[in-house]
Amino acid sequence: MYPLIRNRRLRQNDSIRRLVRETYLNPNDFLVPLFVVEGKNVKEEIASMPNYFRYSLDILAKEVKELWNMGLCSVLLFAKVPDHLKDNEGTEALNANGLMQRAIKTVKDACPEMYVMTDVAMDPYSSYGHDGIVAEGKILNDETTDILAQMSVSHAQAGADMVAPSDMMDGRILAIREALEDEGFTDTGIMSYSAKYASAFYGPFRDALDSAPVAIKDVPKDKQTYQMDPANRKEAIKETEMDIDEGADIVMVKPGLCYLDIVRDIKNAVEVPVAVYQVSGEYAMLKAASEKGWLNHDAVMLEQLTAIKRAGADIIASYFAKDAVKLLG
Ligand code: PBG
Repeated sequence: MYPLIRNRRLRQNDSIRRLVRETYLNPNDFLVPLFVVEGKNVKEEIASMPNYFRYSLDILAKEVKELWNMGLCSVLLFAKVPDHLKDNEGTEALNANGLMQRAIKTVKDACPEMYVMTDVAMDPYSSYGHDGIVAEGKILNDETTDILAQMSVSHAQAGADMVAPSDMMDGRILAIREALEDEGFTDTGIMSYSAKYASAFYGPFRDALDSAPVAIKDVPKDKQTYQMDPANRKEAIKETEMDIDEGADIVMVKPGLCYLDIVRDIKNAVEVPVAVYQVSGEYAMLKAASEKGWLNHDAVMLEQLTAIKRAGADIIASYFAKDAVKLLG
């Protein structure tokens, strides 16, 4: 007697494994998140994100050239706004000469072909750390989408190729699309954070931007009234289909690893490219475990990224992008 089928035949050596491998990572898969700060010659390490930095604009220019030379062709910009410029309406977000707007120009000047996406959300600009205007113990929806639409136009005016609203207000994709069209930015795209969960994995990111929601009376202390419940699956499809109907060019699932069932659901349900955001907490976990010698950093990193792609990601936003591309050779 012998086994009728021997699956191990196709695993015997590296050559046959390469031949039958279904998923390959390459530099074109990655979108690189970048944090920017005011100042000159600043490269500050983020405490809870070892080996990840906030850059002043002069250093940002060098960084994007390096990324481009490594084969990475897109960045996602986030601005760290000083406290004195924060208010409940996120007024600074609309400053044509604000940090984000200057960062967009800096990237385009340094590296014109680099595809520039920008985070559109109020939280880095909000004195409460929320993605919307806070009033009467609530996060106002329609007033907020109005601001997000203006913010998107401001980013487009500064030269952004695509805006990436990460707020989870209802109806914001339509509001943004209409505002962009009205202002003549017909070619500016929208990548919607369409299935974004109220996750505890965003902690290090909130350190990076100093944007954690504050705990004060009459202000919700978390984002559960707008971001999705991690226990839910079906509404991810509903959210995503609605955003596509409103004009999203690319949709996103966030976070990554714990949500790969959602990634596959969405990938099977829609016809637009699907992005996955491997978030700050996922990065921090691996850095911490590998610093302790408990996990092999590079092997686990590549396994995680491959799993995200295998689940259905067409684009991976990842703090590991540079490390991964170096290893891929
Ligand atoms: C906020 C925003 C967050 C992230 C991207 N945009 C955090 C949040 O919703 O509080 C998280 C990214 C990460 O953790 O890496 N609009």
